[in-house]
Amino acid sequence: MIKVLIVDDIPETREHLSRLLGLEREIDVAGTAGSGEEAVQQALDLRPDIIVMDINMPGMDGIDAAEVISQRLPNSPIIMMSVHGEAEHLKRAMLAGAREFLVKPFSGDEFATSIKRVHERELARREQLQAAAAVATPSASSSSGVAEDHQVIAVFSPKGGSGRTTLATNLALALKRETNQRVALVDASLQFGDVGVLLNLNPKNRSVVDAVDGGEPDRDLLESVMVDHSTGIRVLLAPPSPEGADLVTPAYMRQIVTMLRETHDWVVVDVPSGLNDHTLGILDAADQILVVAALEITTIKNVRLFLEVADQLEYDRSKLRLVINRSDASQGIRIGDVEASIRRSIDGTIVSDGRLAVLAVNRGVPFVVSHPESPLARDVITLARTLAGEGTATTATPPQTEKTAKRGLFARR
Ligand SMILES: Nc1ncnc2c1ncn2[C@@H]1O[C@H](COP(=O)(O)OP(=O)(O)OP(=O)(O)O)[C@@H](O)[C@H]1O
Ligand SMILES: [Mg+2]
Repeated sequence: MIKVLIVDDIPETREHLSRLLGLEREIDVAGTAGSGEEAVQQALDLRPDIIVMDINMPGMDGIDAAEVISQRLPNSPIIMMSVHGEAEHLKRAMLAGAREFLVKPFSGDEFATSIKRVHERELARREQLQAAAAVATPSASSSSGVAEDHQVIAVFSPKGGSGRTTLATNLALALKRETNQRVALVDASLQFGDVGVLLNLNPKNRSVVDAVDGGEPDRDLLESVMVDHSTGIRVLLAPPSPEGADLVTPAYMRQIVTMLRETHDWVVVDVPSGLNDHTLGILDAADQILVVAALEITTIKNVRLFLEVADQLEYDRSKLRLVINRSDASQGIRIGDVEASIRRSIDGTIVSDGRLAVLAVNRGVPFVVSHPESPLARDVITLARTLAGEGTATTATPPQTEKTAKRGLFARR
């Protein structure tokens, strides 16, 4: 039985909706609520499988209630209802954490189908999560112990094309520039790795596949396939063709990252999007996860879901940092909207500069090297300083750069 909570301020609507579901054998209307406040209370008491909620209610409206509920009960997905189907309503609902949106009036069939679909998706999501947690836990402590102040920085995004590779590569170079410590850059996008292109590195037989030699990863072999870049960073490239990816198992990838951590102060990993054994193994081994997102509604929704996953995997909140890429190129969504939606503040912003980004790729020289004074490079350097400044408490972060960069962006809004 799917336990449903119905929320609407009009009693007749509540009755009508309950009646629509009356004939559904798999669905049980466990309760109803007439206001946002009551919805929160009932949700906490009943722990429903699904909450259907009207957007427009006097007092605490559906959006506010959804925000509270999705934060406190991530396993009770919300379907939002409204008489308006406009993009603005949809946007607000999604930012508040709703999983689906129904425009009134709808048929009993549509209603029940929507509930079942969201429930099914939720079950699938939880199953995936459990499977992931099973892979993730065994060596959760592997990153501690050896070389305590060394850091694995996983650059991740729940959505492709957000700028992970650009950020990971330039960040590795910025960390080298700022700290002059040992920096390794790992391209974990095994099928379609781009790091080699960005750095103009294309040596024969020196990619992560060549470090795979049957059983356990071998330190010397791993060392021998790392490629030295002229800036002093060391790079572990992705296989030259997608077939090679199959040879590198999740456990292997994870061990490699952990091994590199022992010999490098910084290990920056370009993690492909999507949650699977491969990515979760790396995220788990990481000391910090930089979540890269664009100011775009679907990306923000996915970031939100990813933060829930991270909570359920019991990642420390401080392990995650949010970076908004192309932060000044938003189409109607502001940083403040995002912060409210995900209930945490953004840790860094990177300006948009398509011309420089593309020039850098085409020349094979990352912008942190070729144009360190550009606003784009400066934003990445600021991020590197923030990371480095916290790693060693004594190295004070150059105070202004970071703050002004941030404030500058906010000030524009
Ligand atoms: N701040 C920026 N300003 C302008 N363009 C950018 C910026 N960051 C990235 N880009 C451009 O966006 C595109 C995607 O970037 P990138 O390849 O780094 O993303 P990705 O997340 O690694 O993508 P994929 O999912 O394909 O691996 C590239 O053309 C890149 O040059
Ligand atoms: Mg990429």
